[in-house]
Amino acid sequence: MDLAAALGPERLSEVMGELFNRCGSVTQRYGGTVQQFTGDGIMALFGAPISLEDHAIRACVAALEIQKEAVTLADEMKRRDGMEIALRVGLNSGDVVFGQIGSGSESYTAFGTHVGMAQRMESVAPAGGVMISESTVRLVEHIAVLDDPSLVNIKNAPEPVYARRLRGMLASRTAIGRRESTLVGRDDEMDSITRILHNGLDGQGSVVGVVGPAGIGKSRFCRELLRIAQSSGMATFCTSCESHTSEVPFGVVSRLLRDVLQISDDEQEAGGAALRARFGEADPEDVVLLEDLLGIRDAAVASPNVSAEARRRRLAGLIGTPAMSPDQPTVYVVEDVHWIDAASEAMLADLLTNVSLTQAMVVITYRPEYAGLLLQVPAIQGIKLEPLDDSAAWEMTAELIGPHPSMHELAANIIERSAGNPFYVQEIIREFAERKVIVGERGAYRRQLEIADISVPPTLQATIGARIDRLTPPAKRTVYAAAIIGSRFGIDLLNVVLGDAENADRAELAELVHCELIDQVMFTPRAEYAFRHPLVRTVAYESQLKTARAQLHRRLAAALEDPNAAAADEIAAVIAGHLEAAGDIRGAFSWHMRAGNWFTNRDINVARNSWRRAQDLADKLSVEDSDRRWMRIAPRALLCGSTWRAGGSVADTGFDELRALCTRPEDQVALAMGMAGFLSQLAIRARVREASQLASEYIELIDSIGEPDLTVGMLYPAIHVKYEAGEMADVERLAQRVIDLARGDPKRGNFLTGSPLAFATAMRASARCALGKAKWREDFDQAVETSRVDATTYVSMVMFKYMLGIPSGALRPDAEAQRETEEAMQIAKRCSEDFALHSAQLARGLVLVSVENSHREQGFELLEKARSAAIGERFNLTTVLTIDAVTAAERARRGDLDGAIELARRVIAEQFESGAARDLGPATSVLVESLLRRRRAPDIDEARSAIETLAAVPTDPGFVFHELPLLRMRALLASADGDAERYRTYADRYRVTAQSLQFDDHLASVRRLAAPADP
Ligand SMILES: Nc1ncnc2c1ncn2[C@@H]1O[C@H](COP(=O)(O)OP(=O)(O)OP(=O)(O)O)[C@@H](O)[C@H]1O
Ligand SMILES: [Mg+2]
Repeated sequence: MDLAAALGPERLSEVMGELFNRCGSVTQRYGGTVQQFTGDGIMALFGAPISLEDHAIRACVAALEIQKEAVTLADEMKRRDGMEIALRVGLNSGDVVFGQIGSGSESYTAFGTHVGMAQRMESVAPAGGVMISESTVRLVEHIAVLDDPSLVNIKNAPEPVYARRLRGMLASRTAIGRRESTLVGRDDEMDSITRILHNGLDGQGSVVGVVGPAGIGKSRFCRELLRIAQSSGMATFCTSCESHTSEVPFGVVSRLLRDVLQISDDEQEAGGAALRARFGEADPEDVVLLEDLLGIRDAAVASPNVSAEARRRRLAGLIGTPAMSPDQPTVYVVEDVHWIDAASEAMLADLLTNVSLTQAMVVITYRPEYAGLLLQVPAIQGIKLEPLDDSAAWEMTAELIGPHPSMHELAANIIERSAGNPFYVQEIIREFAERKVIVGERGAYRRQLEIADISVPPTLQATIGARIDRLTPPAKRTVYAAAIIGSRFGIDLLNVVLGDAENADRAELAELVHCELIDQVMFTPRAEYAFRHPLVRTVAYESQLKTARAQLHRRLAAALEDPNAAAADEIAAVIAGHLEAAGDIRGAFSWHMRAGNWFTNRDINVARNSWRRAQDLADKLSVEDSDRRWMRIAPRALLCGSTWRAGGSVADTGFDELRALCTRPEDQVALAMGMAGFLSQLAIRARVREASQLASEYIELIDSIGEPDLTVGMLYPAIHVKYEAGEMADVERLAQRVIDLARGDPKRGNFLTGSPLAFATAMRASARCALGKAKWREDFDQAVETSRVDATTYVSMVMFKYMLGIPSGALRPDAEAQRETEEAMQIAKRCSEDFALHSAQLARGLVLVSVENSHREQGFELLEKARSAAIGERFNLTTVLTIDAVTAAERARRGDLDGAIELARRVIAEQFESGAARDLGPATSVLVESLLRRRRAPDIDEARSAIETLAAVPTDPGFVFHELPLLRMRALLASADGDAERYRTYADRYRVTAQSLQFDDHLASVRRLAAPADP
């Protein structure tokens, strides 16, 4: 069948590209070089330009391996395109002419009759088979498994020739394949991990962390694991984090998912279609989020406007669906998480905690300095790789150097020096070989006695450094330039950094590949290379002079900064990093600030990282520099202003330092910005009294700036603080100011919150309700209506309504309450930051637990989620008191009076301590009622004094949130005292007040109160 016609040109080139890349890396793995890509094939050469004694054997092993790769690819194609493909491979051995024809960088090639014969062998090979000519047979027959010879006719030859089909090789692959030495030691570790792996085969998921210093063998260990997994029929995926992309959000997760979903870099359209087919059942908007993450969203489709946290939640949901779980047990390896970007880290931690890992084993590797989130994943099992013991180190050394007697002394040297680090062992031997201290080849070296200096560089790094030093000058220049770019690099950027565009000579790259410092990892459509080992890059980077390095960084940054590059915002942090390394402080500062701005509403934590970097840079400027002041102030104001969103302690705001810096009139706005964040932070850490005092100073500051828009946008933290403190007359007055200034525009001044007007309206509603004034219901309805400008604002307004209305008894958990809180919950899950999600949990929870039905349990679960977020500094700590007061009431309801009393006492004490006053009424009610029900000796007295304590709290005139419960409690107390007349007086006043206020829940409670307590 004609492949081109069946697949269409795009898919065809994609398939061919993939095939070529896989063939290319196999070829390279066995020391061959890819000579050229013909339209539908590739030609590879073993033994030239670098001579290899066992070239024929390597070629055979590579050919068999290529067939294996082709089979996997064919399987994929069959599944995806419904097409069968097969590959033919032909081999021939003999002298070739190898050289440069013409000019230009890609002109090295081989030609001659033997090249032609290889092509003939290919043409007579069976589909899926490898055919080798007589000349190759002679070189490999001692270890090859071959079919009987057959006579084949080939083009342009007068007579048929003999050829044999290659079936397999007898020798083990590691003996001939280049590089990988036999795995030594690690028996115990291998045992543990295979045991875990086998549990995975039985359906039990696991997360394993493999830790050890650089070069100790983490990657090698994982390769062994992957091999075992594959041979047990498991699917495997592997990806690594890289030091230079630790600033690129979602880099790692995106790469891993692309692998899993089989989406290649150049496959936007097809990728999107494949995703939609796969996730046919899912919410289409969720699929767009996934496309966004993978970088294949169609530009015509808008990215949904949802917060980073909602994105993470929804993606986790999507990834947890059956469409994502492979139908076979799978191993995922994520290497080097000490370099993971913050966004991937958070998402991965989330996935590992929340997605059921049946049939999946996830392995992460890291160096000991890593202490991040992933280590907190529940049930993670650790495997620590220690240095190899002496016998394993000997075994490894012996395999690499061979048995020649002249090597004994060196071997002892190597073992001692390397201290059990296998990479060090390898590098010392390479270093000796390059220095010609030893000659021969791997497994068969001899000492060159004329060279007396057998000293070993003192560290692994120094050994690699010595090897780099010995490169030819052009190769050294190239490896230095590459180290600037990153662990993976393409020719284009390399040319830019080298500063001589068009000129990268493949010969230098070939030298680096030959020395095993780099590998070619992609062959088509563009050549790409990667450092062999992360340490090689580190050493190549660090051994350059700072000034020289700076120049290279500057060139690279200049290329990336190109104004035509649309991606500049996304990679702003990377550019900033290069400019920083180039010593360009101002340049780096503004790119960090730009990165921060771009991320403010995408991922606040990433944004804050950028601001922190900017802040550190500004601090480095000379004291004389006239820009230093504002450059130090700007990032600090942003950091201080956003701490409450990111979570953290009051000290994390850095407010004192900011205040000390802002000494001039022109600094007032920055100071106000920071102070706004600081106030919010104080309030949500429940330091309400302190916050309320500072709020007055803050309001003065805002007034002194005297900008109406700014006033509308920035009064909210002051109002919020007063609200937490229960100073409702102030709340009403300030809210009214904002409402007047906003002149009906929900978006006016919305630079810090979604709708200052909606917020002010909800606050006026709260104040009016607490002060027993009219129209608070209308205000709440109006606030909820106005808040529909964005998801988070809506959720917050619903929270304000029910957080105040339910505990105070002003509102009933009626149908409207059910509907609004349920909707808030759904919206928050889909769109909001975690903070808003917790607000929704609080509101929904409060409503659910106030109704006598089967959903109460669920309500308490929601409250517990919000509560633990608050305790963990990720949500408003004052809500803990609200929730605890409700919990105390629940204990009383279930008859656990001791528990209720104990908790209610604590809530009251904490409110007096912090100055948070919202829940004093409800908490005192629970305490008093429980005490009166328990009636141990001192209980009645304690109830009496709790009532007096509440009554003595100074409040604004008309503050019914205390007055109303007080009337009720006094009635109950009178009844306990047996004073019928006093009882009737208070019960009547309670009823009249509740009726006049139309507080729904109190009206219900009036009816309950009257009947049984009547003496
Ligand atoms: N047990 C072993 N037996 C034989 N060779 C090993 C063993 N462990 C590691 N090696 C070899 O040592 C070299 C360094 O190992 P590897 O790359 O796995 O280190 P690593 O711990 O991943 O280091 P890094 O933290 O820098 O990534 C590799 O060439 C690897 O093949
Ligand atoms: Mg590694």
